[in-house]
Amino acid sequence: MEVQSLGLVITVSFLVLCGLASAVPSGNQLDSHIVRALSESECGAQMRRLQGNEGVSAIVPPRPKGEWVSMRCEVRPGPEFILRRYKFHSDSSFSLHQFFYTDDQCRHPAYSLKIRGTIALGQQSWVVSGATEAEYHVSKVTMVVYDETFGRTLRSQVNRTCPGFFSSSNDVLELYQRYVIVDWEQESTFTECTEAMDFAMHELQIVRQEFHSEFNTGIAKFVSWEELFLGDIHTDRKQRMYYRPRAYQPPLRKYQANCSFCQLIHNTEEFNPPLLPARTEYQVSLRSEWVSTRCEVRKIHFVIRHLVFHNNYTWEGYFFYFRDPMCQHPVYSIYVKGAHSDGTMSEIVTGGTEFEFVTSQMWVTPKNSEEVVKFNKNDDDCGAAGSWRLNQPQEVTGTGGCSVIGITLPHTESELMRMEQGRDGKALLFNRERPTDGDLSLEKPTSYQSPLRHCAGVNPLIDITVTYENNEENSGTRLRTCYALQTLVWCLWICIYLLRH
Ligand SMILES: *[C@@H]1O[C@H](CO)[C@@H](O)[C@H](O)[C@H]1NC(C)=O
Ligand SMILES: *[C@@H]1O[C@H](CO)[C@@H](O)[C@H](O)[C@H]1NC(C)=O
Ligand SMILES: *[C@@H]1O[C@H](CO)[C@@H](O)[C@H](O)[C@H]1NC(C)=O
Repeated sequence: MEVQSLGLVITVSFLVLCGLASAVPSGNQLDSHIVRALSESECGAQMRRLQGNEGVSAIVPPRPKGEWVSMRCEVRPGPEFILRRYKFHSDSSFSLHQFFYTDDQCRHPAYSLKIRGTIALGQQSWVVSGATEAEYHVSKVTMVVYDETFGRTLRSQVNRTCPGFFSSSNDVLELYQRYVIVDWEQESTFTECTEAMDFAMHELQIVRQEFHSEFNTGIAKFVSWEELFLGDIHTDRKQRMYYRPRAYQPPLRKYQANCSFCQLIHNTEEFNPPLLPARTEYQVSLRSEWVSTRCEVRKIHFVIRHLVFHNNYTWEGYFFYFRDPMCQHPVYSIYVKGAHSDGTMSEIVTGGTEFEFVTSQMWVTPKNSEEVVKFNKNDDDCGAAGSWRLNQPQEVTGTGGCSVIGITLPHTESELMRMEQGRDGKALLFNRERPTDGDLSLEKPTSYQSPLRHCAGVNPLIDITVTYENNEENSGTRLRTCYALQTLVWCLWICIYLLRH
């Protein structure tokens, strides 16, 4: 009797606990409990690491020999979704694979190009600090099409600029068949039908190689890897074939056997395109604090960014500009405040969300004496002429911004954003690539800059990914665990009961 009621009490308490566990609030309700002061230091610590580019060294001149792969499904202006697998050989020849996809997760291959040629490295670039110039020569380009719809579009495009190229009367391109697009190796029969695809390899005109080393707390060891930066692609597709790069694309990573992401692309080729695993799609929610993941290149300067979203349609941004690719020598910094709209799903770029951003207030701080002189000479706008001092911030809202650094106020621009979970589990926020020609109003953005990493405030991934199904799944697991425990208690109880009698 005694034992029986004990068992009953245990069972009932378990049921109550189980009920409580399944009802634990996720995300939203925790919002108000964030202790900002605690987490703020993470943003600061990351900024300090980036200044001076801790753990990063440039390899000059670059030694690109080896296999290099994309670090994620890259979004190029257009948009184009692409994975790259580039191989450079010791005799200065290269063979490069570009795999294009119809979706932003790189799961549905459309076509691929294989590009062969040679590259010769030259001097340090005058245009992009830290880059080495290069001259390249493409000798052969072949194409394989995987997607029928894409094949049809491409065929009519190519027929327009290169009539007669596809001689067979079939309506579609043969899938998984190799087509020669450029062939300078056989001089007598060369063809060049790349115009329809806006094909250009000018990215090979600048090269930068970096060695990264970082202490991994998980395995308590230093880990290292290498990155290869090639030239950027003009954000206006029509300009692509004529543009000389002035910045970089996202870096490629040197293949290492212990890099699991690299394995997905390693050894893939034109008849076996890489397919990335499905990744959770996150809705962009503008909240929390975000900081650069690297010292970023911006035309003539380099920048570290820190953005803060207040969850009430206002935002703040800190931008620290440097003149060197290690972010060691500061030029000036700006602090801006403004508002933003609600997001709407982009119809042009799958996975992207569009916003309107307004910058209404701005402060500028000159960080070296040349800049002080420059600011003081300017008497059109940019605060009171002659009043600038080294390291002293000045508000330039009243004078309508600062044309010396190219910002007039108030200033509205359309943003394109996307969120994903980084490989370290932290949320990453991508925002629009700056237009190559500098005019933010001309083009709709279709590609992204280097991502910012979540560094303080509520983790937006936890909050918004909890879709209905996920919730069910989580409480389902909790309930299952509880039922298992409950059964165990019942068994124990019966055992004790049987022993007693
Ligand atoms: C290519 O274009 C020509 C006219 O410009 C047209 O007659 C022909 O049918 C087209 N061929 C294909 C395969 O689309
Ligand atoms: C992978 O292996 C290389 C040496 O082959 C090593 O330098 C690097 O730190 C390793 N990376 C990780 C993440 O273990
Ligand atoms: C938005 O939130 C921030 C931080 O909580 C606050 O400083 C600011 O005044 C708020 N702005 C508006 C318009 O409510």
